[in-house]
Amino acid sequence: MTRSDRSATSQPVDPVPGPGIVPAFTNPRTGRPALRTVSVVGLGSYVPPQILTNADLARMVDTSDDWITSRTGIRERRLASPNEATSDLACEAARRALSSAGLRPQDVDLIIVATITPDMPFPSTACLVQEKLGANRAAAFDVQAACSGYVYALDIASHFISSHTYETVLIIGAEKMSAFIDWTDRNTCVLFGDGAGAAVLQHRPHSHGLITTCLGANGGDARLLELPAGGSARPASPDTLSQRLHFLRMDGKETFRKAVTAMVSAGQEALARAHLTIADIRCIIPHQANHRIMSAVAERLGATPEQVFTNVERYGNTSAASVGIGLDEAVREGRIQTGDYVLLVVFGAGLTWGSALIHW
Ligand code: UT7
Repeated sequence: MTRSDRSATSQPVDPVPGPGIVPAFTNPRTGRPALRTVSVVGLGSYVPPQILTNADLARMVDTSDDWITSRTGIRERRLASPNEATSDLACEAARRALSSAGLRPQDVDLIIVATITPDMPFPSTACLVQEKLGANRAAAFDVQAACSGYVYALDIASHFISSHTYETVLIIGAEKMSAFIDWTDRNTCVLFGDGAGAAVLQHRPHSHGLITTCLGANGGDARLLELPAGGSARPASPDTLSQRLHFLRMDGKETFRKAVTAMVSAGQEALARAHLTIADIRCIIPHQANHRIMSAVAERLGATPEQVFTNVERYGNTSAASVGIGLDEAVREGRIQTGDYVLLVVFGAGLTWGSALIHW
């Protein structure tokens, strides 16, 4: 990606420094701070080995392989073991991403973990990952944007790099959804899985990179998809436990409708900002919620099925990990080559949504 490409992004271009502010890096021609391009220099993902099939679920709740497959496209999902937390899944994906980038944990300046299933309310999962990885130079924090978290993290990371604040940022979308699922609720327990996807980001002169990110949210629809208790509004109590309020709850139909609309408009906005059409995109990686949502999004964007990457049949909905795992697999499978345009479109609780357009 060239610097002129960058002018089509969501980032502020050449902001004028205020009085007394001396920018760290200055464009000698304009005297203004020079923003840098941001490239994905390493990818990794991890899913735990234990597989839970639709047939297994049919022995646990009143469901069937036929219902789950026809409504969602999901055939199986992965489950973390009882002694594996979200930070462990995140670390494994991170190690793989760092190895593919040829970097060491000590090279990382910042770790951002996107998750709605943190190891605990605090400290952040990112701090636990920092310790487990041995990334002792890195600052660390979590981002909570549910299934949109990976794209939110990508957007935040890109600003730190383009503004010269950090050189190397590690983003990880990681979830142990199985810990927050009501395994007696057939409406939700068939949909989700565990896993993690990570990316290492840097400025690489003369390399392609992130063109634009679009983010959105609507707290007015927060109740559509929530984990009602365990926070400051409804602290854990015998009452919240007996009402099973510590598990995920969802209005599936309404969530479906909102997801399609939001992902389509986020995708269209990214294309418009970059002056590209859907035909220019080699690979679209939608949030892997279910195949009906992805098909509807692809159809409304005018994409062909060949352009759309899916792995939901193997992993279910892994929330913030979903597009991170998808991007890593798509690259390893050769679905994305240097020079291709890649579009991520995401949607999740909050409600939140977003897109990212990357020149690979
Ligand atoms: O990251 C975003 C996360 N959210 C999502 O991805 C959810 C988006 N929503 C959806 O994908 C769909 O709404 C679902 C797949 C969750 C459900 O499909 P649906 O076609 O909207 O089904 P429904 O909720 O309208 O339920 C239809 C019937 C109901 O039975 P009755 O009331 O018609 O007798 C449900 O009780 O299907 C029943 N049902 C099931 N039956 C067998 C719900 N879940 C199951 C199940 N097995 N697992």
